[in-house]
Amino acid sequence: MSIDIAFMTSNQALFARAQGVIPGGVNSPVRAFRAVGGTPRFIKRAQGAYLWDAEDQRYIDYIGSWGPMILGHGHPAVVEAVQRALLDGFSFGAPTEREIELAEAIIALVPAVEQVRLVSSGTEAGMSALRLARGATGRTKFIKFEGCYHGHADPLLVKAGSGLATFGFPTSAGVPDDVVKHTLVLPYNDIAALEQAFDTHGAELACVMIEPIAGNMNFVRASVPFMTRLRALCTQHGAMLVFDEVMSGFRVALGGAHSVYQRLIPGFEADVFVFGKVIGGGMPLAAFGGKRDVMSQLAPLGPVYQAGTLSGNPVATACGLATLKEISRPGYFEALSARTRSLVDGLAGAAREAGVPMVCDSEGGMFGFFFADSLPQNYTETMATDKDRFNRFFHAMLDQGVYLAPALYEAGFVSSAHSADDIAATVAAAATALRG
Ligand SMILES: Cc1ncc(COP(=O)(O)O)c(C=O)c1O
Repeated sequence: MSIDIAFMTSNQALFARAQGVIPGGVNSPVRAFRAVGGTPRFIKRAQGAYLWDAEDQRYIDYIGSWGPMILGHGHPAVVEAVQRALLDGFSFGAPTEREIELAEAIIALVPAVEQVRLVSSGTEAGMSALRLARGATGRTKFIKFEGCYHGHADPLLVKAGSGLATFGFPTSAGVPDDVVKHTLVLPYNDIAALEQAFDTHGAELACVMIEPIAGNMNFVRASVPFMTRLRALCTQHGAMLVFDEVMSGFRVALGGAHSVYQRLIPGFEADVFVFGKVIGGGMPLAAFGGKRDVMSQLAPLGPVYQAGTLSGNPVATACGLATLKEISRPGYFEALSARTRSLVDGLAGAAREAGVPMVCDSEGGMFGFFFADSLPQNYTETMATDKDRFNRFFHAMLDQGVYLAPALYEAGFVSSAHSADDIAATVAAAATALRG
């Protein structure tokens, strides 16, 4: 009997049970470990830098719920804010002061934004930002880049057409060709392709949507010349530059990737912003924003419709506000960046000693590592890195209690709860894994 109970709570048993009632056993595909094989861990609880699975195995967590948990799990100030908010009510469907406070906090950290609209997921925010750009410009076509993910709205689930000037094909069944025929998909960091696309379609483009520091093809930065040219072409042709900072926002720096490029490119400014993850601190909360004249195109002021029953949820805004307050403390990002850098330096050192080709990069609390000789510049190059070695490494690390993203095309996240000892333990595990 006790053996039965133990079996019923194993990861494997839970996965089998989940597959009976949830498609693939998961509520978001990457959780199923399809890219790396094996059994997903069913998480029972989390605290600080750690997760515990159904078998009470502890893991050092480098996923952080795919980005939101920048303070680590269960930060006391955030827990207290959420508990207080809960007692006042879960949802009102009416405006609250906390929504204003969160909007003001976001605007203070990203001054290019004058107004924001809060929503419940990054998908919703990306979809709404695209509608806004189309509504505000009166144009339909737009550019996105291969390897950038902007949520799963129909017009964004697209792969490149046969030529650079042709529009895309759906990457999902159920997405009509008609819906994606306005989406042009280009290779990331390719200035020539960008110029060609603007030459051909510039006057019809509503916007260009980009992950400025991409986290969905592992960790790939837009080069400074590429970003500079992108900004100039958007301005020249009247297309909006939409920064999807769902992942990079308040994560690679307090002001997000936007502040990184503003430091590197004089006078640089994006037009529309998409946020998520960190601004909700682990609760369902996202946002999109921009200048007042653009945002005033939204209902109830303007003709672009957008709405949400749970938008600006009072518990989620409490969680997000408490998180933003903590990461705004002086020295927070310097310490987080240094800790993340110590991880990637440690991983690179362990790989060098093991004679394994590995390259790493990081910015703020976000990082990537690749089994390759040089840092990939686009999706094709990321996918050409050594997948078998990645999968072996992933499992060897998991077996040693280190929870990395289960696919080579995902970025990693360090939180301020990760201690120097956690990093040292991770690097030691990597040295063992790389020798294997
Ligand atoms: C850059 C980016 N945009 C949008 C999304 C979609 O966000 P959500 O999963 O909250 O719908 C994600 C999710 O990972 C993302 O990384």
